[in-house]
Amino acid sequence: SGRQSYKIALIPGDGIGIEVIQEGKEVLQKLATELDTFDLDFKGFEWSSAYYKKHGKYLPDDALAQVKKFDAILFGAVGAPDVPDHISLWGLRLALCQPLQQYANVRPTRILRGTTSPLRNCKPGDLDWVIVRENSEGEYAGHGGTSHTGQAWSVATEVSIFTRHGVERIMRFAFETARSRPRKKLTVVTKSNAQRNGMVFWDQVASEVALDFPDVEVDKMLVDAMTTRMVLKPESIDTVVATNLHADILSDLAAALAGSIGIAPTSNLDPTRQNPSMFEPIHGSAFDITGKGLANPVATFWTAAEMLRWLGQAEAAQLLMEAVENVTESGVKTADLGGSSKTKEVTDAVCKEIHKLA
Ligand code: NAI
Ligand code: MG
Repeated sequence: SGRQSYKIALIPGDGIGIEVIQEGKEVLQKLATELDTFDLDFKGFEWSSAYYKKHGKYLPDDALAQVKKFDAILFGAVGAPDVPDHISLWGLRLALCQPLQQYANVRPTRILRGTTSPLRNCKPGDLDWVIVRENSEGEYAGHGGTSHTGQAWSVATEVSIFTRHGVERIMRFAFETARSRPRKKLTVVTKSNAQRNGMVFWDQVASEVALDFPDVEVDKMLVDAMTTRMVLKPESIDTVVATNLHADILSDLAAALAGSIGIAPTSNLDPTRQNPSMFEPIHGSAFDITGKGLANPVATFWTAAEMLRWLGQAEAAQLLMEAVENVTESGVKTADLGGSSKTKEVTDAVCKEIHKLA
């Protein structure tokens, strides 16, 4: 038959990551059953903070070789109350993203039907953004050090790295993304007034790349001013490119402005497709609500849709988002969206919608 088959690595991780990945798998399996265009072959990996406590590391030595056999990775979240966050983040998530060359982190944001923005006058069409986050260098390149620990003169540095290679490839990716959207509009976020080396270089490479995209309308914005623009003039924004740190912060703000961190997806892409890309909800392990059936699975469903789109199943992705929005519109929502439904009820409703639409 003409069915495509994809191998998907599931890394649920910690806390509600385990809960939402289970829901995501269920919805993806439902889609594969209802549509006759593709099959999914899942394999779960137990890499997590529990694994770390047992083995002293988050990943086995051959982890990269193992995940490279897959077409995509669906990741939950990592972080536990009794492990420092920098250990879990660098031990698992960054230990995968960086060697797999997933240099483009893509975060779409919009207001789903049946949900509301905390912005008083913001209607669904007014907020429809894609934030492109540089995912390999900048402030999170891992350059820095600590010395004279425990002394009155102890010192720590965190060096931001901007290379021509790194900045140029993310700019090209961001311009391509802007070009693929109806408004063909890109905002380059910067801080070149204060960060006068790295960020001036960032701006310079952006304007060089812009020459190859004359059809994209581009503007430049300081990151502090960008936060106020996101709140006051959301409709003036379409595609955004920013450094690893700046976009990390802006995209959490974006998710909150669109209604909840519980709906927002992320793709960690290797645009060269030499390595599998990794897809995850942007939220963390949320141990405050773990085990209560309260986690919103919508972020993971949207993430699953982004994964299907990347794998070439755009119609299935579209159908999944249609199903999700029919459900939010019908009022079946978790508490973070002002509803009273449990995680499972949302999943069941989405599966029913998939059956109706397929
Ligand atoms: P968080 O995203 O886990 O939670 C922030 C708040 O949002 C909490 O009140 C939580 O209950 C709520 N929330 C998050 N996702 C939700 C969902 N799907 N449905 C309903 N409510 C939701 O961020 P926090 O609390 O700062 O971090 C908790 C742990 O997660 C830490 O260890 C942190 O390092 C880790 N983390 C991991 C990430 C990742 O793996 N990519 C990303 C962010 C945080
Ligand atoms: Mg973040």
